[in-house]
Amino acid sequence: MKPVNLLVFSAASLLSVLGLPGCKSGGGDTIKVGEFASLTGKEATFGTSSHEGTQMAVEEINEAGGVLGKKLELLTEDDQSKAGEPANIVNKLISRDGVVAVLGEVASSRSLEAAPIAQAAKIPLISPASTNPKVTEVGDYIFRVCFIDPFQGTVMANFANKTLKAKKVAVLTDAKSDYSKGLAKYFKEQFVKNGGTLASELDYNGGDKDFKAQLTTIKGAAPDAVFVPGYYNDVALIAIQAKELGLSIPLFGGDGWESDNLLQVGKDAVEGHYFSTHCSPEDTSPKMTSFVGNYKKKYSKTPDAMAALGYDSAYVLAESIKRAGTTEGPKLREAIAATKDFDGVTGKFSLDAKRDAVKSAAILQIKDGKFKFLETIAP
Ligand code: PHE
Repeated sequence: MKPVNLLVFSAASLLSVLGLPGCKSGGGDTIKVGEFASLTGKEATFGTSSHEGTQMAVEEINEAGGVLGKKLELLTEDDQSKAGEPANIVNKLISRDGVVAVLGEVASSRSLEAAPIAQAAKIPLISPASTNPKVTEVGDYIFRVCFIDPFQGTVMANFANKTLKAKKVAVLTDAKSDYSKGLAKYFKEQFVKNGGTLASELDYNGGDKDFKAQLTTIKGAAPDAVFVPGYYNDVALIAIQAKELGLSIPLFGGDGWESDNLLQVGKDAVEGHYFSTHCSPEDTSPKMTSFVGNYKKKYSKTPDAMAALGYDSAYVLAESIKRAGTTEGPKLREAIAATKDFDGVTGKFSLDAKRDAVKSAAILQIKDGKFKFLETIAP
């Protein structure tokens, strides 16, 4: 990380010495906002959705007159779902393009990679959907508009006890993902606290294609259910292979499951399984209803949680710029940190002292090839 940070500093100070415009932005005709997202690659649906929600919010904000008399200009970069790209991209957005803030990423590992760069440059970064606690721990310029995994893990451990009536569970974790490892840990802590036992704890590496060895071991341990805190692409294959092995117990996981792709690839193998996420398009609140309507009009599909979170992240930023009355990093940082009772599509929320959103989770079940809303769990 060090050489990259040095680059940020030297590029920024060089530009300011030369008195070049654009670096600190705000000076131009638009307010430049950077966005980094996985528009292609392994988790392409995450970035596509969050980007669509973000883009829609920016367009609405601009149609309503923009902020501080200027239009927002969204500069979006694709990190291809690849490690290494987020650091490059965010460095470029800040030091070359002069963005006043950065929106992104969905995946915690990729937010974690970019956050130190934004922190060092004193440019606020708001993650729409990264739930691992370490993301905002990087520093006081890093925020998120979603809940964190100690909460999500607790919600799913209680769900395993109360709804699934599971006494013994197996846990299958993606050893390459900060998100997966964190969520597995918080889930296990609460499940054991609730009196449950862990039948077996196994790992895979995100992108693996064969999970039969782990699933065979899990079958042998005879758990009541399997917690799989992974991303949709891996989860779909895990569900298919579990079914092939005759493992006919509930699988359940977290927000990383949410993608249409899970349904398309997993088909009947994912039927009946459960996961927690941030919201449901079935929510009948006026905010969600109008968001779903407008999104469908614009993109001809139903929005998922990442789209809703992307949308909320752009509005939190725009409102904070208005309250700050400036796009200057330290003042904007303070304004974002002061976000209270924000009325978002994903619910009403405030940012706490650790710059994390405090808000409810939703539990969904896959029913007849669709995501069906089951319940909302308040913090
Ligand atoms: N919470 C996941 C992470 O931190 C990302 C995610 C958010 C995935 C919302 C799907 C929906 O990596």
